[in-house]
Amino acid sequence: MAIRTIHVGAWNRARSHLGVMTQSEDFEPVALVDVNDDFMAQGLDLADLGSDAAHSSLTEALDRHDCDAVVVVTPVVIHAPFIDEALAAGKHVMVEKPFTVSLEDAERAVATAEAAGLQLLVTQNDRLNPVYPTIRRHLGEETYGPPGYAVMIHHKARGGPYHDSPHMHLWQQGVHQIDTLLSAIPRTPVRVRGISVEPAWGTWPTPSLVHSIIEFDDGTSATYVGTSQARHSEFQFTVECEEAALATSGLRTNDSLLLKRGAEVESIPTDPPPGGMSPEEQISDMFARQINEGVDTQLSGRNNLITIRVIDAIARSTASGEAVDLG
Ligand SMILES: NC(=O)c1ccc[n+]([C@@H]2O[C@H](COP(=O)([O-])OP(=O)(O)OC[C@H]3O[C@@H](n4cnc5c(N)ncnc54)[C@H](O)[C@@H]3O)[C@@H](O)[C@H]2O)c1
Repeated sequence: MAIRTIHVGAWNRARSHLGVMTQSEDFEPVALVDVNDDFMAQGLDLADLGSDAAHSSLTEALDRHDCDAVVVVTPVVIHAPFIDEALAAGKHVMVEKPFTVSLEDAERAVATAEAAGLQLLVTQNDRLNPVYPTIRRHLGEETYGPPGYAVMIHHKARGGPYHDSPHMHLWQQGVHQIDTLLSAIPRTPVRVRGISVEPAWGTWPTPSLVHSIIEFDDGTSATYVGTSQARHSEFQFTVECEEAALATSGLRTNDSLLLKRGAEVESIPTDPPPGGMSPEEQISDMFARQINEGVDTQLSGRNNLITIRVIDAIARSTASGEAVDLG
């Protein structure tokens, strides 16, 4: 039987998941929640639902419709209250990145879900770009020897701040890159240093630039430098292994992977995505498998806590000036 879903947030980023889940045999969207009439109308049209499926609050939607799961794709500071309400109603939850904007909220959600036997999934789509699972496989198999260190640099010329939130660059954009970096390096992060700054000419309400260093359990280290207030756009990720470096550039899903050795640079193939699925199709497939088979996937709430702990540690290290042990 299809998993019946209520979608909180009907348009913009929400339409990516709503469109895929409407087409999927695994899901049946039954209601939408939104506060914007135009976005609601577009969401109803996409999901082929009537006006009786439109609600302005999750409380009302849960009251009027039988459902199994809630999909939250709203501005970030209201993820946590919607997750809490859905779990309290006994529903599985799929939530857009970032899981929440505080470690405490994310840990509470995971504990509540596990105590109630409910599934949580956080839709970190960037890590599903085929270059990253391919890097992870090469590092795991030590194709080019063991990894030594990694460097990720992201200049994003966004043009303006994100929705209001604590440390908006880190929680709303940096969370993609930190999650991806952690997914590509098959090691456990143990210690984090970070500084967060606003350029002298910057205009953001919270720091738009982060420098951080992550140490892993085997001595591998990684540097992440990211900003959303750059004056140009560029992305680079390099992992130096004993015999050669694996490198990628750009953020598109058809990016190629480069092998660099001395002055030689060659393009190497990336592994095909599972079942040829797009990142959003993989996400809904993982959510269905979590619910139907009880399997743990890479996007489960518990697994996402590692990313949230590193994000929280970067913010705490900025405040204290000290390295933060992840324990
Ligand atoms: N993975 C990605 O590539 C990607 C890209 C963009 C945004 N996002 C994430 O998606 C989420 C939403 O971002 P967005 O830019 O689409 O935001 P948005 O402001 O466009 O809001 C998304 C939807 O939520 C609705 N909404 C706002 N307040 C609401 C409320 N109180 N109750 C119900 N619905 C409400 C909006 O009307 C809209 O339809 C965020 O978590 C963001 O970080 C992810």
